[in-house]
Parts: sequence; C-alpha cells; structure tokens
Amino acid sequence: MSTIDLAIIGGTGVYALGELADVETRQPDTSYGAPSGPIRVGTLEGKRVAFLARHGEGHALPPHKINYRANLAALKALGASRVLALNTVGGISERFGPRVLACPDQLIDYTWGRISTLCEEPGSDVLHVDFGDPYTPSLRARVIAAAAQGGVALVEGGCYGATQGPRLETKAEIARMRRDGCDLVGMTGMPEAGLARELRLDYACLAIVANWAAGAGPNVDEVITLQDVLDNVRAAMDGVPRLLRSLLAG
Ligand code: HPA
Repeated sequence: MSTIDLAIIGGTGVYALGELADVETRQPDTSYGAPSGPIRVGTLEGKRVAFLARHGEGHALPPHKINYRANLAALKALGASRVLALNTVGGISERFGPRVLACPDQLIDYTWGRISTLCEEPGSDVLHVDFGDPYTPSLRARVIAAAAQGGVALVEGGCYGATQGPRLETKAEIARMRRDGCDLVGMTGMPEAGLARELRLDYACLAIVANWAAGAGPNVDEVITLQDVLDNVRAAMDGVPRLLRSLLAG
C-alpha cells in the first residue's frame, strides 16, 4: 500500500488535476465494486496526491448512480486517510454567489434511495458513527489556513444541503432549504461525507459555487444553464491549485 498524502475527488466541471506530475493510473476494485473511473496518482508540492473524478472522467454517472462506497474504499485502499471533496453547488444565501469558493461546516441530507452506509450487507457491523460535525474540523482548519496563506478568497462555513437530483430544484424547494438553514445546494455531498466518517477518513468539502440556486440571487427568474455552470466552475477553479499547493506544503 502506497501512502497518499491527500485524495481529491473532483465534481462537475473538474475531471482532472493538470498540476499533478509523474502520474500513474490505478483502478482498484473494492468489495463494493468499481470506483467511478481511474484514479490518477501523482506528485504535487513533493507530496503524493490521488485524484478521482466523481462522475467519471466523461461525466457519465449522475449523482444517484455514483458508487460512493467504492470511490472512498478505493482511495483508502491506495493509502489515503484524508479526502478533500470538490463539490459544484448552487448558492442559496447572500454570501455564496457564483464563483465563490466555500468550506462548509454543516450539511443537511435530502437524498433518498442511495446506499448510504457500510452496514448494508447482512452480517456487517452496525455502525452509529458520530456525525455532529460532518466535516473533519482539523482538515477544514487546514483548508481554511491554506486558502489564507495562498491568498485565495474562501467563505468559511455554511450549510450544504444535499438533494437527490439529477434535476435542479424548484424555487419552493430552495425556499424550504433556506428556511432549514442551508446556504448551498448540491447533489453529491451525501452519502459521501457519511461514508467517509464510517471509513474513518478525514473529509472536508471545498464547494465551488456555479450558479444561484432556483429563485435565489438578484434575478429570481434566471434560468440555470449547463454552460453558465461550467463557465463559473472554470473561473472559480483559478485559485484552487494555489490553495492545494499551500495545503500540501503546510
Ligand atoms: N442545485 C443542485 N446542485 C447543483 C446546483 C444547483 O443549483 N448547481 C450546481 N450543482
């Protein structure tokens, strides 16, 4: 088992990490099946980094079809103990407009029908992991410090609401999520974060705001297009390599 300093899971619009050097490709099978695609293992800032595109490198997998268990188990099998999840999201509250990077500290799970635990199979141990703080506080603190050190603007905190998708939400659903306390909305934050906790992986989310969620922002009737999402993710990703270098150097 080779040790990985940091595993990175890329979301919509992030299918590769161009900064990685000396890249090798791994495709471990796991007891939960195959991960979303090849895992690229390489070097960045002198550290070993593994990168996996959550939806597959060609974005073939919708959020509810992703084998979250296999993805995390494969990264762990390669030697990762820390996972930074990049999640493309919609912004609900004012501080979270398009192109913002955020490191949320809470989440609410609205997904359904996904395999969301390692306790699925008969005979597996029943786990009731603590999940009060769904993102590992020490890893979050390092991400926040790395952003500050690298001069990358990052909103600290916020509540991520995980919806089922693949369709986007109605205005009423976003209004309800706002009342619930959600600041961000995405489709892949769960069960990934819960499974990471069950697997005893440190896990933090770097949310990339691609659009105002339905009915949020200055133009409540704005239609969300895939092109806007991809353009905004590309622009917001500008600072991410600097953040990663500073995270790995620290
Ligand atoms: N809703 C859910 N998931 C998303 C959104 C959104 O508005 N934008 C990007 N991912």
